[in-house]
Parts: sequence; C-alpha cells; structure tokens
Amino acid sequence: MIVRKRAGPVAVASGNGSRAVEVAVAKMTGGSLPVDAAVAGVNLVEDDPNDTSVGYGGLPNADGVVELDSCVMDGPTHLAGAVAALRNIKNPSQVALKVMRRTDHVLLVGEGALRFARAHGFKEEDLLTERARKRWLRWQERLSEHDDWIEPGGNALPKKKAAGAKPDKDRKEERDPGTIHLSALDASGRLGACTTTSGLSFKIPGRVGDSPLIGCGLYVDNDIGSAGATGRGEAAILANGSHGVVENMRRGMGPEEACLEVLRRVDHYTRIQRLLDDKGRPAFQLTFYAVNKNGDYGAASIYPSRFVVCTGDGARKKRTRPLYESR
Ligand code: GLY
Repeated sequence: MIVRKRAGPVAVASGNGSRAVEVAVAKMTGGSLPVDAAVAGVNLVEDDPNDTSVGYGGLPNADGVVELDSCVMDGPTHLAGAVAALRNIKNPSQVALKVMRRTDHVLLVGEGALRFARAHGFKEEDLLTERARKRWLRWQERLSEHDDWIEPGGNALPKKKAAGAKPDKDRKEERDPGTIHLSALDASGRLGACTTTSGLSFKIPGRVGDSPLIGCGLYVDNDIGSAGATGRGEAAILANGSHGVVENMRRGMGPEEACLEVLRRVDHYTRIQRLLDDKGRPAFQLTFYAVNKNGDYGAASIYPSRFVVCTGDGARKKRTRPLYESR
C-alpha cells in the first residue's frame, strides 16, 4: 500500500530507527539539511551499546575487531561520502559526512579512513563491548563450518531450485547483518540519507558490505527520491539495489512497489544452493526503504519485517511488504 502524504518532512528508517526518525524530522524542522538530519538520527543508534549491528557495541569481525561501514548522500549537491572497514571510531556516519564535504573523494577505507578521521579530530576508542565480545567468543568456540570461507565447489547450483539446502539454524541465530538506514525529505523538497553498520557479524576482516557503497546501501536523486537497504549486503551489492529502487521510482512506481521489484530480481538471481532454503527461496533477509519527492514512502523485504516513519507526529512502526509471507 502506498501511503499518500504531502511532501516533507518525512523520515523513513529500518525498524531500529524509531528515535532516529523523530530526531531527523525535528532537525529538518529546525532547518537542517536532510543529510545532516539523517546523520543526527542514526548517531543515536551508533552510540547505543545495546544495538549490536551498528557503531559502538556492534558485533566484531572474525578476529574480534569491530569494523564499521557507513555512507551518506546529499540530494541538492548530488554528492556522497563513505567509509568502510573503519576501526575505533564510534560514529562512522560523521566521518562519511566529512569525506563528502572535506575531500574530493567518495569512499575511504581501513587505515586511510582512520587516519582521515584522526586528522579531523575524531576520538579513538575501543568499540567492543563485553556483550559483543561474549557473542564473538561463543561463535569462535562453535566455529566449525560457520564462517565465510567457501570450499571448492561450495557455490554449486542446486540440481533443481526447489531442492535447496536446509538453512543453517546456528548460522542464522548467531550472525547478524543488521544495520540502520534513514532516508529523509524536508519541507523544501530536499532529500538526503545515511546508512551505517558494523556489517555482517564475524565477517572476514576487511569484508565490505553494501552499506558504504553508493547505489547499494543507499542512493539519492533529488529529482526523484531516496532509498536504502538493510540485510544481506552481498545481495544488495549484486543487485545494485538502492539505485534500482530509485530508478524504479523514476519510471513511475510508488516507493513500496519500487522496493519490491528489486527484491523480485534478488529472488530471481539467488541461484546457488547454499543461499537457498528448502523451498528454493532466498535463505536470508533483505529490506529496502524508500521515500519519493512527494513524500510517499514505503518498504519491502523478502520476509516480513518492520520499518519506521515519522512525518512530525512521532514515529510509527509499519509492516514492510514482504515478497514471501512467511519464512
Ligand atoms: N547490510 C549490512 C551488511 O551486509 O554489511
């Protein structure tokens, strides 16, 4: 269902962004650019030690080190900034903003991103909380085949798509590709967005997901709309998903349908056995969120999920439109 709404302010985010969308709308009402409002909103989640998918308290990589990814995009200037595999800085979204505003580049990674953050006075700190360390230790102790190294032949196609492998429950329970995305539209029709994450938990060190990649973890076109993703980053990258959502809106689709259409493509191209469940469907979750220039918003996911929206009267939780009704 498309919810008709007058243009901004509107902020739409993943389900962990209830406070973030309220802050973003308050900031835009106070005159902030949507991209700055989006960063201010997600900073709450980056700072929260209890959100194990973002910023401080995020689950670490396979070596037990927290590596963060984030990007921002500003509609009016059509500029973007991003950092990937950034260590020791709690708010990678703020560093991404600096990359956008204080360099001629779009993406800085690893040691270079950290040195850039230091140059701009960001404080370094240990981002691994006790809770995250214990989760990592438990995963290490039960490691067996539950990592991201694939044996030769491990990417085989199934004999028939419907005969996929049973999903690995241990892997599903313990691993987390959680993230926050926030797209914002202000009352003047300006758009901006931010995505930030600690990425897939226990990932191979140096792994970069969709969240810092423009067109994958988010995309903004100030003439059309803004979109972003959470969930399995590899699938969002292979689909160039957020760009696809915005392009679907350019062709006239509403935000929800635009998101769903990209997920249909993800479903179509998910072919290898280890990524399929026993019904031949994707054995992972992926969600897209979008807002268009008119202030219409929506979200869709492979399996049922929630998103949040704020138009000035408090955050409201809503159901995403699922590609499949149940797992
Ligand atoms: N979507 C977050 C990640 O895969 O890193």
